[in-house]
Amino acid sequence: MYFSLGVKERREDFYDMERELEMLVHELEDPLTRMIVIKGIRRVGKSSLLKVALSETKMPYLLMDLRAGGPLTPEEFYSYFADALSELLERNKRIERLLSRIKGIEIAGFKVELTEKRLFVVREVLDELDKWARDEKFRVIIALDEAQRLRFIRGFDKLLAHIYDYHNGLKLVLAGSEVGLLDKLLGKKDSETPLFGRAYAEIVIDRLSEEKARDFLSKGFRQVGLKVPDDEISDVISKIDGIIGWLTYYGYYRMRMSHSQAIERTLDEGARLAAGEFENFLSMRQIARRRYIEVLKILVRPSRWVDVKRGLRIALGMSISDKQISNYLSELVDYGFVAKVDGRYVVADQLLAEAILRGYIR
Ligand SMILES: Nc1ncnc2c1ncn2[C@@H]1O[C@H](COP(=O)(O)OP(=O)(O)OP(=O)(O)O)[C@@H](O)[C@H]1O
Ligand SMILES: [Mg+2]
Repeated sequence: MYFSLGVKERREDFYDMERELEMLVHELEDPLTRMIVIKGIRRVGKSSLLKVALSETKMPYLLMDLRAGGPLTPEEFYSYFADALSELLERNKRIERLLSRIKGIEIAGFKVELTEKRLFVVREVLDELDKWARDEKFRVIIALDEAQRLRFIRGFDKLLAHIYDYHNGLKLVLAGSEVGLLDKLLGKKDSETPLFGRAYAEIVIDRLSEEKARDFLSKGFRQVGLKVPDDEISDVISKIDGIIGWLTYYGYYRMRMSHSQAIERTLDEGARLAAGEFENFLSMRQIARRRYIEVLKILVRPSRWVDVKRGLRIALGMSISDKQISNYLSELVDYGFVAKVDGRYVVADQLLAEAILRGYIR
């Protein structure tokens, strides 16, 4: 069923995206591919694509879900790592023997605990998984969802480059919604970064076109035997755009209430969620907080750089330097809150715009 909330794991719950899915499965299986990067703004279906592909290939995988949010603390990181390892162990009981060799790890049933929360333990686990893969003549996928957050973990970028260069039994998959930051981790423009210059396969997920969004909703309603008039579907798409995560929300609520209630619920919850994510971003930028909010207010409509500058001067009653304005805009783009389309900047997600209009970010 398309209209269930949460990350999709099974192909039958996963709408279309055939091309992306085929490409990902192909790259996962291709022995020459060392690293795959999945990009796309929030809620376009990156995690679902990743999970469905992993379950299709049947290859063993360690999937770390780093969840977008504020700065990733070492505590969180090691707890996500232990979770991922526990899940891998549950799927492949045979690795217990190989994990038990590692100092700094304890295993109780399927539960892995790190008694030493240090990067060298992670490195040793990866060494063992690499050996396992080579012995068995397969590859183990190391999948890192919201991988850009790993930049908060000192030394992890070097570890990634090390895996890439020396651990042929492992294959890396990095996914992320804060695309500019993911590019930074990958060292796209900076030759000083450890991963600089490493080739990778890139899969970009975009929002659905109007036609596809319509098709997604129609098929989803057909699955649950609900007749929804075309004009209601047009109304949803015009209000929330083609981001599949929001369309799924709407479908979920529409099964339970009227169109207008379902739309309002989607807009309101979506706006609150988007506001929360933006608050996370602002929490690290308290001094410039007011300015970022004013920039977003301007960018509810597509605007050129000069419009932002003028708008900010009016809103704040003071002139901001060109350098600072460029910096605010590039940060917003890097974090995926703003997109640059044909030379104009605009809030990337209609529901973030909604959050501003509703005064949820102030
Ligand atoms: N192809 C799909 N078919 C059906 N539902 C989907 C599909 N892709 C995503 N969804 C739904 O959209 C929502 C967002 O999906 P998912 O979490 O996979 O996206 P994401 O890009 O990883 O989001 P985030 O940026 O929040 O991590 C979920 O409710 C999921 O069920
Ligand atoms: Mg995700």
